[in-house]
Amino acid sequence: MTFPARLLADAAAIQEHLTAVLSTKGSQPVHDAMRYALTGGKGLRGFLVLESARLYDIPAQNALSAAAAIEAIHAYSLIHDDLPCMDDDDLRRGQPTVHRKWDEAVAVLAGDALQTLAFELLCDPALGSEKVRLGLVLGLAKASGAEGMVLGQALDMAAETAAVPLTLEQIIALQAGKTGALIRFAAQAGAVMAQADTAALDGYAQALGLAFQIADDILDVQGDPAKAGKRLGKDQAAGKATFVSLLGLDGAKARAADLIAQAETCLAPYGAKAATLIDAARFVIVRES
Ligand code: IPE
Ligand code: IPE
Ligand code: MG
Ligand code: MG
Ligand code: MG
Repeated sequence: MTFPARLLADAAAIQEHLTAVLSTKGSQPVHDAMRYALTGGKGLRGFLVLESARLYDIPAQNALSAAAAIEAIHAYSLIHDDLPCMDDDDLRRGQPTVHRKWDEAVAVLAGDALQTLAFELLCDPALGSEKVRLGLVLGLAKASGAEGMVLGQALDMAAETAAVPLTLEQIIALQAGKTGALIRFAAQAGAVMAQADTAALDGYAQALGLAFQIADDILDVQGDPAKAGKRLGKDQAAGKATFVSLLGLDGAKARAADLIAQAETCLAPYGAKAATLIDAARFVIVRES
């Protein structure tokens, strides 16, 4: 299967799982908004969960709840990221953002409920023993919270009004939190489920996560809005601290390419089994959305 076909197939399987889980939750606006926010993404984080599980011969079916969990956290982070008090965006995945389609209260609550849904999903016995599930819960809690994604988002917002531009080291720390932490959780999930060493996948994920966010920052400057499905050209005006703001477009592209080479090297212990994850790394810096 080619990489785009594999990504689509995995995303569809995760979507089907989420649809089934959400079908029992209710039909208030908050439930509709949760379903809405879970559709239309690339599903890359969920894909990383399923592919890292495959490295350990764990069937996708057994890992689906962990893949759905990371996509739920990601969807929550996007709903809140788009709010007027954060990036103030009206378009996401080619559709109105949740607070535009409903209102801010529904958006805040749908985000909250998606966050807790993620931990509910990680309790699925299909994922493994209680010890394995506890490891996943701890990993996702840390990746999402005050030392992970939330920290990165806080640094991202603070940088908008910082008196002096962030240093390269500070931008790396910011991006490792806001984007890197969830990607790290996703790519390590298979090893956590298999109770194996997570180091090689972690090395891969750290390089991949940074390259992913650099590509997002480059897209903001020179992407095609019709393909990206979100407003572009906003980072500079908002005073965001990005690799592009610090290194320029060419510097950022060179850095992303180096990181992808680094990510591939980290997967050497897995040999040919890691081909799909290597394809994913290459995709991350050429993607148009
Ligand atoms: C967008 O993530 C937000 C960032 C962390 C840069 P994605 O580009 O993975 O968004 P979707 O899920 O495919 O819409
Ligand atoms: C969003 O980063 C990161 C999270 C939601 C955690 P951005 O603000 O750069 O993402 P886009 O560009 O709005 O998709
Ligand atoms: Mg943001
Ligand atoms: Mg944003
Ligand atoms: Mg962005």
